Amino acid sequence: MIRRMPAAETADAQLQRTAAQFREAFGCPPTHAAAAPGRVNLIGEHTDYNDGFVLPLAIDRRSVVVAVPREDYVVRLRSTGVEGEASFDLTQPVTTGEPAWSNYLRGPIALGGELGLKPTGFDALVDSTVPSGGGLSSSAALEVSMLTLLEALTGQMLDPVQKALTAQKAEHEFANTPCGIMDQFISTMGKEGHALLIDCRDHSTRDVKLDDPEVVVLIINSNVKHELNGGEYAERRQQCEAAAGTLGVKALRDATLDMLESTKGQLDDTAYRRARHVIGENQRTLDCADALDARDYAAVGNLMFASHDSLRDDFEVSTPELDKLVELAKAHHDPEAGVIGSRMTGGGFGGCTVSLVRRDAVDRLADQITADYRQATGVEAEAFVTVPSAGAEILEV
Ligand code: GLA
Repeated sequence: MIRRMPAAETADAQLQRTAAQFREAFGCPPTHAAAAPGRVNLIGEHTDYNDGFVLPLAIDRRSVVVAVPREDYVVRLRSTGVEGEASFDLTQPVTTGEPAWSNYLRGPIALGGELGLKPTGFDALVDSTVPSGGGLSSSAALEVSMLTLLEALTGQMLDPVQKALTAQKAEHEFANTPCGIMDQFISTMGKEGHALLIDCRDHSTRDVKLDDPEVVVLIINSNVKHELNGGEYAERRQQCEAAAGTLGVKALRDATLDMLESTKGQLDDTAYRRARHVIGENQRTLDCADALDARDYAAVGNLMFASHDSLRDDFEVSTPELDKLVELAKAHHDPEAGVIGSRMTGGGFGGCTVSLVRRDAVDRLADQITADYRQATGVEAEAFVTVPSAGAEILEV
């Protein structure tokens, strides 16, 4: 039996379902609603906090939050997926608290308030169809959906870059994860039918069309969970900053392979390999955006496979399960009729792979790869096709 994720629920269906649950939980219909998507990164991994380039797309799985304003300053937060209720008063500073999941919503409420998004109290219910812990930015979706709800409640809109930066700060301060800007940025600014090439230094973006009807984005969850605040992520960041210091540049974005070679004697082997990944990955990301524009899928695929190898060998953030999924996909490498390219996606240490696959072949290949993966690892993977989707939006209830 092959385990397939159910087809993605539309935003409207998810809204109706969540609104009905809100009525049950709070005894009245919601009056305000917002949604923000998860993301998958096509290429450009561990480059965002090096001032580099990333190429993610928003996916058709999202966090929806519905609410009704209150006459006092009390906020009550509930979730459709997890037990418990968070309750606090907006006349006091908003801090971290129980239940743990509420911190992804408390952060945006606290920091949104500092930017003037100050609603009265409200009751809210959140529902997410982004698999959690799978490297698809379920936390960014929660954060950005809450900021968007605050926009709906106050009628005050944030500048999109400021909104993404605020959600990132919430992740740093309320979820204790020193993430880069990619996830919150694409969840805010995703565009239907497109990936976004983001310059993480100046925050400029370039739309990259991803609307070839013959090609689909396949996500396979290795179903090995990870926690980014396990320390590995922060350690990688420090290693990159130290390498940039030795190379005499502000960030690894400014380094070249020539500079790296001439400084080799001053870097230990680990620092050298970390820097080599980031420098190479930035170039691969720019090249991949151009190759996608030209629909040069042979080039796109080679860049994706090279990215995975570099994350596995130089940056050391892959897992045996992710390596296995990419190896199994590579066995069907055929830019004309099969797998175009495949790699791990997100922070690593578990989670998902992303593959570009010819539409005609995707059902057969997803079944084959997950069956072979089960045989090799004993773990059941989940495969699903996603479509490049719009970023956060206020929904009409
Ligand atoms: C996590 C972080 C992102 C980014 C990726 C690696 O998803 O949240 O900011 O650094 O890892 O590319």
